[in-house]
Amino acid sequence: MGYFLGAFLAFFALASVIPGLFALDFGFSYGKEKVRGVNLGGWLVIESFTTPSVFDNTNDNRVVDEYTFGLYQNKDVGYKALKQHWETFITEQDFADIAAAGLNHVRIPIGHWILDVAPDEPYITGQLPYLLKAVEWAEKYGLHIIIALYGAPGSQNGFINSGHFRDAAYWHTNSTNVARTNELMKSLTAMFAEKTDVVSVIQIINEAAGFRKAILNPGLLAVLKQYYYNAYDFIRNPLPGKKRSNFMVMLHDGFQHLSYWDNFMPSSEYEGVMMDTHIYQMFNDHDARMTYVEHIQRACQNASIMAQSPIPLTIIGEWTATNNDCGPHLLGRFQGSRYDGTLNGTTAVGTCVGLTGSAATFSPEYKEFMRQYWEAQTQSYERGGAGWVMWTWKMENADEWSYQAGLANGWIPQDPTDYKYPNICGQ
Ligand SMILES: *[C@@H]1O[C@H](CO)[C@@H](O)[C@H](O)[C@H]1NC(C)=O
Ligand SMILES: *[C@@H]1O[C@H](CO)[C@@H](O)[C@H](O)[C@H]1NC(C)=O
Ligand SMILES: *[C@@H]1O[C@H](CO)[C@@H](O)[C@H](O)[C@H]1NC(C)=O
Repeated sequence: MGYFLGAFLAFFALASVIPGLFALDFGFSYGKEKVRGVNLGGWLVIESFTTPSVFDNTNDNRVVDEYTFGLYQNKDVGYKALKQHWETFITEQDFADIAAAGLNHVRIPIGHWILDVAPDEPYITGQLPYLLKAVEWAEKYGLHIIIALYGAPGSQNGFINSGHFRDAAYWHTNSTNVARTNELMKSLTAMFAEKTDVVSVIQIINEAAGFRKAILNPGLLAVLKQYYYNAYDFIRNPLPGKKRSNFMVMLHDGFQHLSYWDNFMPSSEYEGVMMDTHIYQMFNDHDARMTYVEHIQRACQNASIMAQSPIPLTIIGEWTATNNDCGPHLLGRFQGSRYDGTLNGTTAVGTCVGLTGSAATFSPEYKEFMRQYWEAQTQSYERGGAGWVMWTWKMENADEWSYQAGLANGWIPQDPTDYKYPNICGQ
């Protein structure tokens, strides 16, 4: 008895003088277990692609994103419509179904307006109670949450999923925007610091547009890297006296090749860092023309690139089982698709008929391709990386993008390791 107590106390004393020994208690065994997850896209940040009805109901074609949704209609009308959407689009049943599908994570996009709306911004707020419900439900069904900041003040990419569809990124052009983002990270940290068993990851910014940096977004990557260091400090060392929090801090690659992040936050010095990268094979003319076989081959080849990632824990936080951009409003409300040439300036690859909409219209060949491509990706992203989070759980009318529809129609297995093509990427 005495011996055990002594040894126990000695262990505690030792642990307190050797930093790192005790240290971290992440909500999930990242690196040992694979992340298998799904995004709750289009819920707390609305998108015309996910729920076109929310936009159609405004009867205003100028409403193309969350920003214009608040700008071009009466605030009370807008709030009622959003509340209805938050309450019905994702419910406790979805969390039960996600857990029953063998998944262990949900990634939840949020915008800054969940906590912070400036006087000159038209955003309608009220999302927070639903995020808190999500935490409750995730805990009940044993799921982990990645909270991902999609909408930073000013927009870090100009994409619809940032809330503000713009010609470029503006987040990094004004230090007030970055300061507000820092405060947002501090607030999220304080809110969930005792809940890291559920909210195990904070993704500090999603898809900051580092691409075409000389032309479109000069200076973004420098601001982004400084922000990454600052946010890491706030989140991992939140309180004086409490040395470290148990959050994982997730970065996004800023549309750079993974090798760009060589020597950034080296794991010998920075614990609890994950990298997120997104893989879509459809958003340029070359990719749109790839054959089914080529799509699968590329997915398989990604394993070796991920395995060489300078950030040891790297996941694919967005990807899809479909090969095409046929889903209506995917590229923006009323924008058309590259695949069928209805996007301005593109030449058709083929018709979108039978490739988007209800799964009842999909051919057996298309569904079988999606099964193979889904398996190639999950196997590859687990082999080379720390796991995957598919985009997205639910879609109003583009079943090819929906995890839920994939389960119901057989291109996604009920158990994500129940492979029909176990050697699709070779042995
Ligand atoms: C930065 O943004 C703030 C808040 O919107 C604004 O008051 C300020 O004028 C902006 N500064 C610059 C240099 O644009
Ligand atoms: C996936 O493969 C493509 C094509 O080779 C490459 O451009 C991309 O960087 C790869 N991404 C990852 C995360 O492996
Ligand atoms: C298509 O592109 C042309 C040339 O860039 C432009 O004049 C036209 O307004 C565009 N149409 C639409 C619908 O965006």
